[in-house]
Amino acid sequence: MTDASPDQTAQKTAAAKPSPFHELEVLWVRHWTDQLFSFGVKRPEDFRFRSGEFVMIGLPGEDGAKPVLRAYSIASPFWAEELEFFSIKVPDGPLTSRLQKIVAGDTVLMGKKPTGTLVLDALTGGERLWLIGTGTGLAPWLSVAREPETYSRFKEVIVCHTVRNVQDLAYRDFFTKGIHEDPLIGDEAKAQLKYYPTVTRERFETPGRITDRIKSGDLFADLQLPIGFSPNTDRVMLCGSMAMIKETAELLESYGMKEGSNAEPGDYVLERAFVG
Ligand SMILES: Cc1cc2nc3c(=O)[nH]c(=O)nc-3n(C[C@H](O)[C@H](O)[C@H](O)COP(=O)(O)OP(=O)(O)OC[C@H]3O[C@@H](n4cnc5c(N)ncnc54)[C@H](O)[C@@H]3O)c2cc1C
Ligand SMILES: NC(=O)c1ccc[n+]([C@@H]2O[C@H](COP(=O)([O-])OP(=O)(O)OC[C@H]3O[C@@H](n4cnc5c(N)ncnc54)[C@H](OP(=O)(O)O)[C@@H]3O)[C@@H](O)[C@H]2O)c1
Repeated sequence: MTDASPDQTAQKTAAAKPSPFHELEVLWVRHWTDQLFSFGVKRPEDFRFRSGEFVMIGLPGEDGAKPVLRAYSIASPFWAEELEFFSIKVPDGPLTSRLQKIVAGDTVLMGKKPTGTLVLDALTGGERLWLIGTGTGLAPWLSVAREPETYSRFKEVIVCHTVRNVQDLAYRDFFTKGIHEDPLIGDEAKAQLKYYPTVTRERFETPGRITDRIKSGDLFADLQLPIGFSPNTDRVMLCGSMAMIKETAELLESYGMKEGSNAEPGDYVLERAFVG
């Protein structure tokens, strides 16, 4: 019998250490514009998450370098069989310059520990749930809006999506039609969900930033609601650019609303999806 060579010992050690990532097959890819795309991957059987959470997504490093990973909101609800993601394409971005080229059959890496604050658990009870996002900050709403508990806890759910151009309104058809066909929450969505898109850099029926439409009262007038937010009735989730989140959170605080967390649920919760 011969002793194991150092090479063999190293291989055994590597084999014994479980990978920190799932390696998942890409099932489909949809390109919305030259800035935005979505993709679906196979869901590992033992992967559990709460609707609205995010997870690390990545690709193996090139030429033996370390894997490149970034945080991504899971755009599927907790009960879905596959996992969907909605992504930006940053031309020179370390991850998305490569991720935007994936096709069905490719492999992506996914972290094993989902986390986040954009979850129903972090909000106290209310009547109306506002899901306010800019750009890819829409992703968690695709999850929360397909979560059955959303409709049992709130009478009304309003998805607000602000983008630069009309073509950036990805999932517009889904929120106006597709979701009504969902076998689990379709009827509830039809009765309780409203979709409120706004566009900042070209003509549109509801133009401008969501923050400006809150301040002017146009948002509430359009939806035939009393002007302003109330801690008695409204609960809010915010996701997207840091500037939008900061400004909207200040507005909410001025209405007497308090930020919540997993440890201490409150009136609103936030998660930056990117800097800028
Ligand atoms: C909690 C959390 C959740 C996130 N969820 C998503 C998601 O669901 N979908 C998604 O596309 N990104 C999401 N991001 C951003 C994501 O982690 C990466 O930044 C993005 O994938 C770009 O990676 P990159 O390596 O190509 O470029 P990076 O080096 O990460 O980014 C380069 C620059 O591009 C800009 N940028 C990065 N991401 C975005 C974005 N999403 N929208 C607009 N500008 C951006 C920023 O100015 C940034 O400084 C999330 C980030 C966080 C912190
Ligand atoms: N999407 C595109 O068409 C496009 C085109 C070229 C380049 N890019 C690049 O892609 C990256 C991401 O662009 P993006 O459009 O997804 O994200 P973004 O620049 O954050 O814009 C998304 C939406 O958020 C709005 N917004 C920004 N700050 C806000 C605030 N403080 N309050 C409320 N709303 C606010 C923007 O309005 P404003 O328009 O008023 O800023 C825009 O409608 C950027 O780095 C950009 O340079 C995007």
